[in-house]
Amino acid sequence: MTERYVVAIDQGTTSTRCIVFDRHGQLVSLAQQEHKQYFPRPGWVEHDAAEIWRNVERLAPLALSRAGITTEQVAAVGIANQRETTVLWDRRTGVPVGRAIVWQDTRTDGLVNALVAAPGADEVQERCGLPLATYFSGPRVSWMLDHTPGLRERAESGEVLFGTMETWLIWNLTGGLHVTDVTNASRTMLLDVRTLRWSPEACAFFGVPMAMLPEVRPSVEVFGTATAAFPGVRIGAALGDQQAALFGQTCFTPGEAKCTYGTGSFLLLNTGTELVRSTHGLLSTVAYQLAGEPAQYALEGSIAITGSLVQWFRDQLELIASAPEIETLARTVSDNGGCYIVPAFSGLYAPHWRSEARGVIVGLTSYITKGHLARAVLEATAWQTREVVDAMNANSGLTLKTLKVDGGMTADNLLMQFVADVLDVPVVRPLASETVSLGAAYAAGLAVGYWSDLEDLSRNWHRAAQWMPAMDPAVRDSEYDNWRRAVERTFDWIKP
Ligand code: G3P
Repeated sequence: MTERYVVAIDQGTTSTRCIVFDRHGQLVSLAQQEHKQYFPRPGWVEHDAAEIWRNVERLAPLALSRAGITTEQVAAVGIANQRETTVLWDRRTGVPVGRAIVWQDTRTDGLVNALVAAPGADEVQERCGLPLATYFSGPRVSWMLDHTPGLRERAESGEVLFGTMETWLIWNLTGGLHVTDVTNASRTMLLDVRTLRWSPEACAFFGVPMAMLPEVRPSVEVFGTATAAFPGVRIGAALGDQQAALFGQTCFTPGEAKCTYGTGSFLLLNTGTELVRSTHGLLSTVAYQLAGEPAQYALEGSIAITGSLVQWFRDQLELIASAPEIETLARTVSDNGGCYIVPAFSGLYAPHWRSEARGVIVGLTSYITKGHLARAVLEATAWQTREVVDAMNANSGLTLKTLKVDGGMTADNLLMQFVADVLDVPVVRPLASETVSLGAAYAAGLAVGYWSDLEDLSRNWHRAAQWMPAMDPAVRDSEYDNWRRAVERTFDWIKP
């Protein structure tokens, strides 16, 4: 019998990948393409959704040919995507209305600040499990409808559709299916996170016509059959990329957590079928839903800027030529020399949720070298993780015993050791480093019976690396105190 495979499309913030996996969850082939980042004004970040779809069309046959297989050998395709990024398009032509607005974009700051004080704000935040912030899609849709003449009327009549990236891709893959999954929908501020249906109250609050919204589906079920990119192949799953990583790390049991270190970093703790309300600046979000079963929830600590701080260090400051060089540079010094960088480029997310905050570098003296700055860049990621873990422990009443990690930055040993040091818990990385894609593949494979159940998937998880905490507690405490004082400076900078 011909061997069969599962393919994942990982549509991320900076690039799109198509990855072929085998039954053991092993990567067979990969094709990747970056897309253009548009920064038209300070705080604005945009993508061209049409370019992203073209990339998927190009990458699909490339990944299959690199694996030496045809679409007949693909049991299912699963999608994982950057969340909250917002696309509007014309239902008739399928052409996007302007550029997609990316999750990091802060242009809705004024709108969000006005809405915080509006009647009904508390109820909406309670209903959707999220704090009012520029991060989420709902305010972005409203902003778009207000800034293009005639667009609101076209949205009200159902002529213009809204979607996050998985919705946009499924629309194109199937030639017109307008659907989303519960994990992506739970990031819009428009979903009632308990009933898993669009909330008419939230839609009215943000001024988003319900006629433009996709149908909400479980994450793991056959959405339809592709007619483009993977013609004839069933689309078995769609999940937000961070939820996909939780799935790929096989964190299926309440209390299990993972942190993915990418452009930003996202720590998710599985809380089971219970929706745990956030009390410490975290998000209550949907982890995944298998067809016909209740949704599994998660608490999430979202950090906007981690890997993108390294990118900034490389591309804007030009102090390194490639991202991995940051570790080499940081190792030229033994500590940060008293320097701290708080990368509040898009405000600060969890646990602060201060969209007006702006980044700071503190502790500069003429002693500071680019090595110290490199160290401060890496340490910023670890301290932001610590803030989120503290919030997670306080919110959940559980104490994190070990942290499963994945994502590009986990290749940096200095950083991973520092994360273990500041958290004071072991940090472990699985053999399969492409956990986002793997999670999407697992979910899609599960939907079509390629894998039989969750235990079948858990058997594929193998530890590849572990970092044990080794920092003197007194040093840890005083460094954390310095970090927190640096964070305070990002708020001081705001004009009263
Ligand atoms: O919420 C934003 C997140 O989904 C982005 O992930 O990996 O594309 O930067 P990534």
